[in-house]
Amino acid sequence: MRTHSCGQLRAEHIGETVTLCGWVDRHRDHGGVIFLDLRDRTGLIQIVSDPERTPNSYQQAGDLRNEYVVKVTGRVSQRPSDSLNPRLATGEVEVYADHIELFNAVNRQLPFQVSAAETENVREELRLKYRYLDLRRERMSRNLQLRHQVTKTLRRYLEDVQGFMEVETPILTRSTPEGARDYLVPSRVSPGEWYALPQSPQLFKQLLMVSGVDRYYQIARCFRDEDLRADRQPEFTQLDMEMSFMTQAEIFALNEDMVCHLFKTVQGVELSRPFPQLTYAESMERYGTDKPDTRFGLELVNVSDLLKDSGFKVFSGAIASGGVVKVLPIPQGNDAISNVRIKPGGDLFKEAETCGARGLAYIRVRENGEIDTIGAIKDNLTPTQTQELLERTGAQAGHLLLFGAGDTNMVNKTLDRLRQVVGRELGLIDTSQLNFLWITDFPMFEWNAEEKRLEAAHNPFAAPHPDDLHDLKTARSQTYDLVLNGFELVSGSLRIYQPEIQQQVFELIGMSMEEAHRRFGFMLEAFDYGAPPHGGLAYGLDRLVMLMAGEESIRDVIPFPKTQQARCLLTAAPSGVDAQQLKELHVASTYQPKSST
Ligand code: AMO
Repeated sequence: MRTHSCGQLRAEHIGETVTLCGWVDRHRDHGGVIFLDLRDRTGLIQIVSDPERTPNSYQQAGDLRNEYVVKVTGRVSQRPSDSLNPRLATGEVEVYADHIELFNAVNRQLPFQVSAAETENVREELRLKYRYLDLRRERMSRNLQLRHQVTKTLRRYLEDVQGFMEVETPILTRSTPEGARDYLVPSRVSPGEWYALPQSPQLFKQLLMVSGVDRYYQIARCFRDEDLRADRQPEFTQLDMEMSFMTQAEIFALNEDMVCHLFKTVQGVELSRPFPQLTYAESMERYGTDKPDTRFGLELVNVSDLLKDSGFKVFSGAIASGGVVKVLPIPQGNDAISNVRIKPGGDLFKEAETCGARGLAYIRVRENGEIDTIGAIKDNLTPTQTQELLERTGAQAGHLLLFGAGDTNMVNKTLDRLRQVVGRELGLIDTSQLNFLWITDFPMFEWNAEEKRLEAAHNPFAAPHPDDLHDLKTARSQTYDLVLNGFELVSGSLRIYQPEIQQQVFELIGMSMEEAHRRFGFMLEAFDYGAPPHGGLAYGLDRLVMLMAGEESIRDVIPFPKTQQARCLLTAAPSGVDAQQLKELHVASTYQPKSST
């Protein structure tokens, strides 16, 4: 039907007769000469029609409107020197249309303009409702193509360079223990029983290791019914991997090689290797989070030992009750951040409050080591303590020191939050940097205060650190995350492959062997038939593409995403179903719509 794509034409095609198909991006009538930008997935080309050179197409060209679908045949010509367009790949040439065939007009009013030349700011709800039009737009089309390039490059690398095999795992399955709520599907043929959609292919990929698959990967759809955010969707995609007979160091090396290859191939970016590593403990200490954005400094400083006997009870009390006192030192903070902002009602104070902080103590450092702060703090600091505080925090004249005091988790959460807000506000983040960072040695368990029990920090299959086998309760695990610019991109672990350790882990998270067998019996049994040492990890593919595309939401790199309320505005899902369907599924709804009085 066509000889070329729109974005393909260059000076070398001048003089050729070509046939192109696409959408009218823009239509302009310049006093008798009609200019059309014709668009397909590859780009734009200028089409020209005038009564003298192209009398056959002139009438038709005049009748066209934006987004009509057409076929154009004509000669490629050099553009006059005053109308060259260096911003367009095809900007040196234009096509004089001898013939235009209209495939389809637009029969309704466009909900928004598709052309990239229109700078209209379209509401996201509208974009999602008319997603097929939104995907025609340059930005979305580019993101979709980037996503394709990413998966294609990963597939080629894993299969052709590393010998991985893609294996599909079931979507109708049992619950997988990733910690979110399951999406459930009722069974028609087994009344009263339910499938769960997989939160990840975790159980199956481990079984595939028992099967001898050795190197598995899958571009896998996962389903989690959890609270949504800009980087979370109810259904999302993982690049899921599992490997047998590999050490953690080997798994890291393979993944670093893959990530470097990906960025080089798709974006021409050279990343430096090896990626830095931080233990979980160190990351929490220095940044207050297990996914630090290391593109800027502002590291936290623990001053608990220095202030444990302070007469200022907020500090000493926090430490006495098992907590900490940490400082966020902000160079030039005195100029940038006023007292109003860090006192009750101020924006930074409110940020701290949302993390559970009850106050935000501060010290302003002046010339010659003088400090400014509230009396209660100043009166309780000896000159030596002040001196040491300034030394440890690297504080100089102009520094603002913000303090977090209390429960360790709360202090970390507060100062992490403030660090990010301040880092962004002071323009400390070099957005051209790509900072990959492995976080290792997560604790095996976290305390679930609500349920008053330990729970697996990653999942119950993560192997304990070999040095910590004597006490699993406090053990580190061989779990790792790969963080990129403050986003958790990847998570994985070496797995337990010895049944007796698995049993201990189930016991520690309060799962009786009976329950473990009921939920994962098939897996425990499989492990009795010869499980190899294995480990793996999963990339959030949507997050990876989002960061590569420079987008702020994964919705912008998912072709048909859901809203924050987990709705698809295009198809209006979820929706009600016929009573008959429910009956067949042996399901009755308990939902009572609120009466609208
Ligand atoms: P985890 O639950 O950490 O690990 O998930 C791995 C990665 O998937 C991405 N991710 C999400 N992306 C978008 N929306 C969501 N709702 C969402 N949830 C997670 C993140 C995350 O790092 N089975 C283990 C992996 C393993 O141990 O091999 C797992 O699923 O980028």
